[in-house]
Amino acid sequence: MGASTFVGLAYLVAIVLFILGIKRLGKVRTARRGNQLAALAMLLVVIGAVVSLTDRSDAVTWTWIIVGAVVGSGVGAFAAKKVEMTEMPEMVALFNGSGGAASALVVLAYLSGLILPWSKSDGGMNLAQFLGGGLKSGAWDQSSALALSVIIGGITLTGSFVAYGKLSGKVSSNAIVFPKQHLVNLVLIVAALVIGGLLCGVVGSGGAPWLAALLLVLSLVLGVLLVIPIGGADMPVVISLLNSYSGIAAAMTGFVLAEPVLIVSGALVGASGLILTNIMCKAMNRSLLNVLMGGFGATSSGSTEDARDYKNVKSVGPEELAMMLDGVSSVIVVPGYGLAVAQAQHAVRELGDFLEAHGAEVRYAIHPVAGRMPGHMNVLLAEANVPYEKLVEMDEINPDFKTTDMAIVLGANDVVNPAALDDPESPLAGMPILNVHEARNVVVVKRSLSPGYAGVRNPLFEADNAVMLFADAKAALQETLAELKEVA
Ligand code: TAP
Repeated sequence: MGASTFVGLAYLVAIVLFILGIKRLGKVRTARRGNQLAALAMLLVVIGAVVSLTDRSDAVTWTWIIVGAVVGSGVGAFAAKKVEMTEMPEMVALFNGSGGAASALVVLAYLSGLILPWSKSDGGMNLAQFLGGGLKSGAWDQSSALALSVIIGGITLTGSFVAYGKLSGKVSSNAIVFPKQHLVNLVLIVAALVIGGLLCGVVGSGGAPWLAALLLVLSLVLGVLLVIPIGGADMPVVISLLNSYSGIAAAMTGFVLAEPVLIVSGALVGASGLILTNIMCKAMNRSLLNVLMGGFGATSSGSTEDARDYKNVKSVGPEELAMMLDGVSSVIVVPGYGLAVAQAQHAVRELGDFLEAHGAEVRYAIHPVAGRMPGHMNVLLAEANVPYEKLVEMDEINPDFKTTDMAIVLGANDVVNPAALDDPESPLAGMPILNVHEARNVVVVKRSLSPGYAGVRNPLFEADNAVMLFADAKAALQETLAELKEVA
């Protein structure tokens, strides 16, 4: 088998594996396997790329390949080992940024002739030929891909780093706004498109690298300006969108380098990132434009007003909750952001184990946007070894609330707010929720009557079948379990 046949086959298998891997990432149970398949695909692509590069260009030497592989794998392995489960969104942000940077850098290197796009054996060109008209100014399809790769790659790089900073608390998570901000952004976007257009026109002449460098600087500034007005709580949506951008930038780079595997894998990342962004926006009942314009969720004050708004709140302590749980046969636990804040995942599992040992069926209801990142509750509960089959998605579990003895809401608020269903004026109107209010009894464990992320009042707190337990989720669970053990 010739080198080029081997490379073609490796790429084909890799593309199939990428698709199968992404499919498996759609379910918690198969996600691990999906990740392994995608990693295998990536390995095949790297091997294919090394074989094809060494075959067709002497610009790349083994020293560079080995140094790159050791440094890249070393950083990746170290970061993956070190990162906490809850810091995953920050890590994804950094990876997205690196993806954007890689695309922009490859295109710049290409423009300055470091990478020869066609093999020598194909009668390829050198730098002088390239800049002197190798890529004809008329080749708009390839040169527009080149300009888009720089623009999207640059925006992804700095946008992702700002998102990382906001999520990790290194940059203020408040929305940073200034007068005429959207106008400034619009002008910069138009300027980037114009320079990109100019670049397409002169890509075959000596001026191209300078225009490309200017375009990159503009895109880097745009990345910062587009993300700073968005509040920290919206960062997961932004990261998902930037993930999609990094895929689009990679696909564009694929067009520039005429590398089908880069086009396909970039398109897969681009499309899956957009789908995830759409799912998150829908589950939050917000439009993407509304998220990108910023300002939402930057503050969630108004708690004292709201506390006065409630008239019929009944509260219990851990001892009463233990009594209510004594002898129940079905329990649905509804975790939310507060569970993550309290780090109560192990405590909830211990309570669940105890109730099951005493004959109750215990399940966990998972809302798609509970917490602050996709899969937040799944990750937390998996960390405490709650079995996957006990985590039930919203659509599947909603019909079961009616026949459930006890729903325990742990630090969740917006995702169980019935105003979303019956108050057309509510900011949450239309957002699908977990129908906790339909359970025979509901206990809501949170520290106060403060609103959640959306900053709105929750009529569940004063429903006839609901009681509040005002405490930190972890402490409440531990004390309730202690009470239960005492009487058992
Ligand atoms: P929220 O509506 O944000 O409510 C969380 C509640 O947890 C708060 O009301 C808070 O009340 C309570 N809490 C905080 N610390 C606690 C602790 N130590 N112990 C007990 N309770 C505690 O959370 P949710 O129901 O999970 O909804 C998620 C919200 O985030 C939705 O509005 C969603 O649209 C939004 N969002 C989600 C995502 C993703 S991808 N998941 C991304 C962006 C935005 P107290 O202060 O009274 O304790």
